[in-house]
Amino acid sequence: MRVKFNLDTKLYFLIGDPMEHSCTALVNNRMFELVNENALCVPVTVKKGQLAEFIRAAKLLHAAGIYLTMPHKGDIIPFLDECEESARVFHSVNHVKIVDGRLIGIGLDGVGMGRTIEKAAGGGSLEKVLLIGAGAVAGPIAADLYRRGARDFKIANRTVQKAEALGKLLEEQFQDIRVECGGLEESFLCAAAADRDVAVQCTSLGLGGAGKDSAQDFQSLDFMDRLPGHCIAADVLYPKTSFLQRAWKNGLKTVDGMWMALNQQEEVMRFHFGADITERELLEAEEAFHAAVTMREVRARRRRGEM
Ligand SMILES: NC(=O)c1ccc[n+]([C@@H]2O[C@H](COP(=O)([O-])OP(=O)(O)OC[C@H]3O[C@@H](n4cnc5c(N)ncnc54)[C@H](OP(=O)(O)O)[C@@H]3O)[C@@H](O)[C@H]2O)c1
Repeated sequence: MRVKFNLDTKLYFLIGDPMEHSCTALVNNRMFELVNENALCVPVTVKKGQLAEFIRAAKLLHAAGIYLTMPHKGDIIPFLDECEESARVFHSVNHVKIVDGRLIGIGLDGVGMGRTIEKAAGGGSLEKVLLIGAGAVAGPIAADLYRRGARDFKIANRTVQKAEALGKLLEEQFQDIRVECGGLEESFLCAAAADRDVAVQCTSLGLGGAGKDSAQDFQSLDFMDRLPGHCIAADVLYPKTSFLQRAWKNGLKTVDGMWMALNQQEEVMRFHFGADITERELLEAEEAFHAAVTMREVRARRRRGEM
Protein backbone atom coordinates (compact mmCIF):
# COMPACT_ATOMS: atom_id res chain seq x y z
CA MET A 1 0.00 0.00 0.00
CA ARG A 2 1.27 3.46 -0.76
CA VAL A 3 1.26 5.99 2.08
CA LYS A 4 -2.08 7.75 1.78
CA PHE A 5 -1.21 10.76 3.96
CA ASN A 6 -4.68 10.73 5.43
CA LEU A 7 -5.98 10.54 9.00
CA ASP A 8 -5.48 6.76 8.97
CA THR A 9 -1.76 7.04 8.20
CA LYS A 10 0.12 5.52 11.12
CA LEU A 11 2.95 7.80 12.16
CA TYR A 12 6.22 6.36 13.52
CA PHE A 13 9.31 8.24 14.64
CA LEU A 14 12.90 7.00 14.58
CA ILE A 15 14.73 8.97 17.26
CA GLY A 16 18.33 9.24 18.46
CA ASP A 17 21.37 11.47 18.55
CA PRO A 18 23.50 11.53 16.46
CA MET A 19 21.38 10.35 13.55
CA GLU A 20 23.78 10.87 10.63
CA HIS A 21 24.86 7.19 10.63
CA SER A 22 21.37 5.74 10.90
CA CYS A 23 20.11 3.95 7.78
CA THR A 24 16.96 2.42 9.11
CA ALA A 25 14.22 4.96 8.28
CA LEU A 26 14.40 4.02 4.60
CA VAL A 27 14.27 0.31 5.49
CA ASN A 28 11.35 0.82 7.90
CA ASN A 29 9.34 2.64 5.26
CA ARG A 30 10.10 -0.12 2.72
CA MET A 31 8.89 -2.71 5.25
CA PHE A 32 5.62 -0.79 5.70
CA GLU A 33 5.08 -0.95 1.94
CA LEU A 34 5.90 -4.67 1.83
CA VAL A 35 3.36 -5.59 4.53
CA ASN A 36 0.78 -3.29 2.99
CA GLU A 37 0.55 -0.74 5.82
CA ASN A 38 -0.51 2.88 5.39
CA ALA A 39 2.32 4.03 7.65
CA LEU A 40 5.23 6.43 7.65
CA CYS A 41 8.50 6.47 9.63
CA VAL A 42 10.16 9.86 10.11
CA PRO A 43 13.72 10.16 11.51
CA VAL A 44 14.16 12.93 14.10
CA THR A 45 17.18 14.01 16.14
CA VAL A 46 16.12 13.96 19.81
CA LYS A 47 18.86 14.89 22.25
CA LYS A 48 19.51 13.22 25.59
CA GLY A 49 17.21 14.82 28.17
CA GLN A 50 14.51 15.69 25.61
CA LEU A 51 12.51 12.46 25.86
CA ALA A 52 9.71 13.79 28.10
CA GLU A 53 9.10 16.67 25.72
CA PHE A 54 9.29 14.37 22.70
CA ILE A 55 6.81 11.86 24.16
CA ARG A 56 4.29 14.66 24.84
CA ALA A 57 4.67 15.74 21.20
CA ALA A 58 4.35 12.16 19.90
CA LYS A 59 1.12 11.64 21.83
CA LEU A 60 -0.26 14.97 20.62
CA LEU A 61 0.46 13.88 17.04
CA HIS A 62 -1.24 10.50 17.70
CA ALA A 63 1.96 8.67 16.80
CA ALA A 64 1.56 4.89 16.59
CA GLY A 65 5.09 4.06 17.69
CA ILE A 66 8.72 5.00 18.22
CA TYR A 67 11.89 3.30 16.98
CA LEU A 68 14.78 4.22 19.30
CA THR A 69 18.53 4.34 18.96
CA MET A 70 21.35 5.83 21.09
CA PRO A 71 21.13 7.45 23.65
CA HIS A 72 17.49 6.73 24.54
CA LYS A 73 17.23 2.95 24.91
CA GLY A 74 17.56 2.99 28.70
CA ASP A 75 16.18 6.48 29.36
CA ILE A 76 12.80 5.57 27.83
CA ILE A 77 12.04 2.92 30.48
CA PRO A 78 10.59 5.24 33.19
CA PHE A 79 8.14 6.60 30.60
CA LEU A 80 6.74 3.18 29.68
CA ASP A 81 3.41 1.79 30.89
CA GLU A 82 4.56 -1.75 29.99
CA CYS A 83 8.04 -3.09 29.32
CA GLU A 84 9.17 -6.52 28.23
CA GLU A 85 11.19 -8.11 31.07
CA SER A 86 14.54 -8.69 29.35
CA ALA A 87 14.55 -5.15 27.92
CA ARG A 88 13.95 -3.78 31.43
CA VAL A 89 16.69 -5.94 32.99
CA PHE A 90 19.27 -5.03 30.34
CA HIS A 91 18.06 -1.45 30.16
CA SER A 92 17.63 -1.53 26.41
CA VAL A 93 14.33 -0.77 24.69
CA ASN A 94 14.47 -0.06 20.96
CA HIS A 95 10.78 -0.24 20.04
CA VAL A 96 7.74 1.37 21.60
CA LYS A 97 4.17 1.12 20.41
CA ILE A 98 1.57 3.61 21.57
CA VAL A 99 -1.84 2.01 22.12
CA ASP A 100 -4.67 4.18 23.48
CA GLY A 101 -2.06 6.59 24.84
CA ARG A 102 -0.14 3.79 26.64
CA LEU A 103 3.54 3.19 25.84
CA ILE A 104 4.58 -0.45 25.45
CA GLY A 105 8.30 -1.16 25.04
CA ILE A 106 10.39 -4.07 23.85
CA GLY A 107 14.11 -4.68 23.09
CA LEU A 108 14.85 -6.47 19.81
CA ASP A 109 18.59 -5.86 19.26
CA GLY A 110 19.49 -9.13 20.99
CA VAL A 111 17.23 -11.31 18.90
CA GLY A 112 18.48 -9.56 15.73
CA MET A 113 22.11 -10.42 16.38
CA GLY A 114 21.40 -13.81 18.02
CA ARG A 115 19.36 -14.98 15.06
CA THR A 116 22.02 -13.72 12.62
CA ILE A 117 24.80 -15.59 14.42
CA GLU A 118 22.75 -18.77 14.77
CA LYS A 119 21.97 -18.78 11.05
CA ALA A 120 25.69 -18.33 10.26
CA ALA A 121 26.67 -21.11 12.67
CA GLY A 122 24.42 -23.57 10.81
CA GLY A 123 24.02 -25.80 13.86
CA GLY A 124 27.61 -25.35 15.14
CA SER A 125 28.33 -24.60 18.80
CA LEU A 126 27.68 -21.13 20.21
CA GLU A 127 28.87 -22.06 23.70
CA LYS A 128 31.99 -19.89 24.06
CA VAL A 129 31.60 -16.20 23.37
CA LEU A 130 34.01 -13.27 23.32
CA LEU A 131 31.90 -10.15 23.84
CA ILE A 132 33.78 -6.94 23.06
CA GLY A 133 31.95 -3.96 24.58
CA ALA A 134 29.55 -3.61 27.50
CA GLY A 135 27.21 -0.84 26.32
CA ALA A 136 23.46 -0.92 25.75
CA VAL A 137 23.60 -3.42 22.91
CA ALA A 138 26.00 -5.93 24.53
CA GLY A 139 23.71 -7.22 27.32
CA PRO A 140 20.72 -8.08 25.13
CA ILE A 141 23.04 -9.83 22.64
CA ALA A 142 24.65 -11.89 25.43
CA ALA A 143 21.21 -12.79 26.85
CA ASP A 144 19.92 -13.87 23.46
CA LEU A 145 23.05 -15.94 22.79
CA TYR A 146 22.52 -17.62 26.17
CA ARG A 147 19.07 -18.68 24.96
CA ARG A 148 20.78 -20.19 21.90
CA GLY A 149 23.33 -22.21 23.91
CA ALA A 150 26.08 -19.79 24.99
CA ARG A 151 27.37 -20.52 28.52
CA ASP A 152 30.95 -19.26 28.70
CA PHE A 153 31.47 -15.52 28.24
CA LYS A 154 34.65 -13.44 28.17
CA ILE A 155 33.70 -9.76 28.23
CA ALA A 156 36.27 -7.13 27.22
CA ASN A 157 35.49 -3.45 27.60
CA ARG A 158 37.46 -0.20 27.81
CA THR A 159 35.80 0.52 31.17
CA VAL A 160 36.34 -2.76 33.00
CA GLN A 161 33.79 -1.88 35.72
CA LYS A 162 31.07 -1.80 33.05
CA ALA A 163 32.13 -5.25 31.82
CA GLU A 164 31.99 -6.51 35.41
CA ALA A 165 28.56 -4.95 35.99
CA LEU A 166 27.26 -6.67 32.85
CA GLY A 167 28.88 -9.96 33.91
CA LYS A 168 27.17 -9.73 37.31
CA LEU A 169 23.80 -9.04 35.69
CA LEU A 170 24.22 -12.05 33.39
CA GLU A 171 25.16 -14.28 36.34
CA GLU A 172 22.07 -13.09 38.25
CA GLN A 173 19.83 -13.87 35.28
CA PHE A 174 21.35 -17.19 34.25
CA GLN A 175 22.70 -19.50 36.95
CA ASP A 176 24.69 -21.93 34.75
CA ILE A 177 26.85 -19.27 33.14
CA ARG A 178 30.62 -18.60 33.39
CA VAL A 179 31.85 -15.02 32.94
CA GLU A 180 35.34 -13.53 32.93
CA CYS A 181 35.91 -9.82 32.42
CA GLY A 182 38.83 -7.63 31.38
CA GLY A 183 39.87 -4.50 29.52
CA LEU A 184 40.64 -3.99 25.85
CA GLU A 185 44.33 -4.75 26.45
CA GLU A 186 45.96 -7.17 24.05
CA SER A 187 46.93 -9.55 26.89
CA PHE A 188 43.31 -10.12 27.96
CA LEU A 189 41.95 -10.19 24.42
CA CYS A 190 44.57 -12.68 23.16
CA ALA A 191 44.02 -15.07 26.07
CA ALA A 192 40.23 -14.74 25.72
CA ALA A 193 40.19 -15.30 21.95
CA ALA A 194 41.91 -18.69 21.89
CA ASP A 195 38.97 -21.12 22.13
CA ARG A 196 35.93 -19.02 21.18
CA ASP A 197 33.03 -20.16 19.01
CA VAL A 198 31.76 -16.60 18.55
CA ALA A 199 33.38 -13.15 18.82
CA VAL A 200 30.93 -10.23 18.88
CA GLN A 201 32.19 -6.69 18.39
CA CYS A 202 29.68 -4.48 20.30
CA THR A 203 31.56 -1.17 20.58
CA SER A 204 31.41 1.82 18.25
CA LEU A 205 35.06 1.24 17.22
CA GLY A 206 36.31 0.57 13.72
CA LEU A 207 33.38 2.00 11.75
CA GLY A 208 35.68 3.79 9.30
CA GLY A 209 37.51 0.58 8.37
CA ALA A 210 41.12 -0.50 8.96
CA GLY A 211 43.64 2.34 9.25
CA LYS A 212 41.07 5.09 8.65
CA ASP A 213 40.57 6.71 12.08
CA SER A 214 42.98 5.50 14.75
CA ALA A 215 41.23 7.49 17.52
CA GLN A 216 38.04 5.53 16.84
CA ASP A 217 39.62 2.14 16.21
CA PHE A 218 41.16 -0.73 18.18
CA GLN A 219 44.79 -0.14 19.15
CA SER A 220 45.50 -3.64 17.84
CA LEU A 221 43.41 -6.39 16.32
CA ASP A 222 46.14 -9.02 16.66
CA PHE A 223 43.96 -10.94 19.11
CA MET A 224 41.81 -11.89 16.14
CA ASP A 225 44.64 -14.07 14.82
CA ARG A 226 44.04 -16.28 17.89
CA LEU A 227 40.37 -16.93 17.11
CA PRO A 228 39.87 -20.54 15.94
CA GLY A 229 38.99 -21.11 12.27
CA HIS A 230 35.39 -22.12 13.08
CA CYS A 231 34.74 -18.92 15.11
CA ILE A 232 32.02 -16.60 13.83
CA ALA A 233 33.07 -12.95 13.87
CA ALA A 234 30.07 -10.67 14.33
CA ASP A 235 30.06 -6.89 14.33
CA VAL A 236 27.13 -4.66 15.35
CA LEU A 237 28.44 -2.10 12.85
CA TYR A 238 28.55 -2.24 9.05
CA PRO A 239 29.61 -2.45 6.29
CA LYS A 240 33.46 -2.63 6.28
CA THR A 241 34.67 -2.24 9.86
CA SER A 242 38.28 -2.88 10.84
CA PHE A 243 37.12 -5.90 12.89
CA LEU A 244 35.32 -7.43 9.91
CA GLN A 245 38.21 -6.68 7.56
CA ARG A 246 40.61 -8.56 9.83
CA ALA A 247 38.14 -11.44 10.12
CA TRP A 248 37.84 -11.67 6.32
CA LYS A 249 41.63 -11.64 6.02
CA ASN A 250 41.78 -14.54 8.48
CA GLY A 251 39.12 -16.50 6.60
CA LEU A 252 36.52 -16.42 9.40
CA LYS A 253 32.80 -16.55 8.76
CA THR A 254 31.43 -13.05 9.41
CA VAL A 255 28.10 -11.36 10.06
CA ASP A 256 27.52 -7.63 10.31
CA GLY A 257 25.19 -5.09 11.86
CA MET A 258 23.14 -4.78 8.73
CA TRP A 259 21.93 -8.36 9.13
CA MET A 260 21.47 -7.77 12.86
CA ALA A 261 19.04 -4.98 11.95
CA LEU A 262 17.39 -6.98 9.15
CA ASN A 263 16.90 -10.11 11.23
CA GLN A 264 15.08 -7.99 13.80
CA GLN A 265 12.48 -7.01 11.21
CA GLU A 266 10.53 -10.22 11.62
CA GLU A 267 9.94 -9.39 15.31
CA VAL A 268 9.60 -5.65 14.64
CA MET A 269 6.76 -6.13 12.17
CA ARG A 270 5.07 -8.62 14.48
CA PHE A 271 5.36 -6.23 17.45
CA HIS A 272 4.07 -3.11 15.68
CA PHE A 273 1.60 -4.59 13.16
CA GLY A 274 1.00 -8.23 14.04
CA ALA A 275 2.38 -8.99 10.55
CA ASP A 276 4.48 -12.00 9.52
CA ILE A 277 7.12 -11.31 6.92
CA THR A 278 8.45 -13.77 4.38
CA GLU A 279 12.06 -14.56 3.40
CA ARG A 280 11.41 -12.76 0.08
CA GLU A 281 10.34 -9.59 1.93
CA LEU A 282 13.51 -9.80 4.02
CA LEU A 283 15.56 -9.84 0.81
CA GLU A 284 13.66 -6.76 -0.39
CA ALA A 285 14.54 -5.10 2.92
CA GLU A 286 18.19 -6.03 2.34
CA GLU A 287 18.11 -4.16 -0.97
CA ALA A 288 16.62 -1.11 0.78
CA PHE A 289 19.38 -1.34 3.38
CA HIS A 290 22.13 -1.34 0.73
CA ALA A 291 20.47 1.69 -0.91
CA ALA A 292 20.35 3.47 2.48
CA VAL A 293 24.05 2.72 3.16
CA THR A 294 24.99 4.13 -0.26
CA MET A 295 22.90 7.24 0.43
CA ARG A 296 24.64 7.60 3.79
CA GLU A 297 28.06 7.48 2.08
CA VAL A 298 27.01 10.03 -0.54
CA ARG A 299 25.76 12.42 2.17
CA ALA A 300 29.01 12.00 4.12
CA ARG A 301 31.10 12.73 1.01
CA ARG A 302 29.03 15.84 0.31
CA ARG A 303 29.57 17.01 3.90
CA ARG A 304 33.32 16.52 3.48
CA GLY A 305 33.16 18.55 0.24
CA GLU A 306 34.31 15.56 -1.86
CA MET A 307 31.45 15.85 -4.36
N1 LIG B 1 23.21 -2.90 13.73
C1 LIG B 1 22.31 -2.63 14.62
O1 LIG B 1 21.14 -3.00 14.48
C2 LIG B 1 22.70 -1.88 15.87
C3 LIG B 1 21.80 -1.82 16.93
C4 LIG B 1 22.20 -1.15 18.08
C5 LIG B 1 23.43 -0.52 18.15
N2 LIG B 1 24.27 -0.58 17.09
C6 LIG B 1 25.59 0.09 17.17
O2 LIG B 1 26.32 -0.52 18.22
C7 LIG B 1 27.26 0.41 18.77
C8 LIG B 1 27.18 0.32 20.30
O3 LIG B 1 25.87 0.72 20.68
P1 LIG B 1 25.46 0.84 22.22
O4 LIG B 1 24.03 1.23 22.23
O5 LIG B 1 25.89 -0.36 22.98
O6 LIG B 1 26.35 2.11 22.66
P2 LIG B 1 26.84 2.50 24.14
O7 LIG B 1 25.89 2.05 25.16
O8 LIG B 1 27.19 3.94 24.06
O9 LIG B 1 28.19 1.65 24.30
C9 LIG B 1 29.32 1.98 23.52
C10 LIG B 1 30.37 0.88 23.68
O10 LIG B 1 31.50 1.24 22.87
C11 LIG B 1 32.65 1.42 23.71
N3 LIG B 1 33.45 2.55 23.21
C12 LIG B 1 32.99 3.72 22.73
N4 LIG B 1 34.03 4.50 22.36
C13 LIG B 1 35.16 3.80 22.63
C14 LIG B 1 36.56 4.07 22.48
N5 LIG B 1 36.99 5.23 21.97
N6 LIG B 1 37.43 3.11 22.85
C15 LIG B 1 37.01 1.93 23.36
N7 LIG B 1 35.70 1.61 23.53
C16 LIG B 1 34.79 2.54 23.17
C17 LIG B 1 32.09 1.72 25.10
O11 LIG B 1 33.06 1.45 26.08
P3 LIG B 1 32.95 2.16 27.54
O12 LIG B 1 31.96 1.35 28.31
O13 LIG B 1 34.32 2.06 28.08
O14 LIG B 1 32.51 3.56 27.30
C18 LIG B 1 30.89 0.75 25.12
O15 LIG B 1 31.32 -0.58 25.32
C19 LIG B 1 26.84 1.78 18.24
O16 LIG B 1 27.82 2.24 17.31
C20 LIG B 1 25.50 1.54 17.57
O17 LIG B 1 25.29 2.38 16.45
C21 LIG B 1 23.95 -1.25 15.97
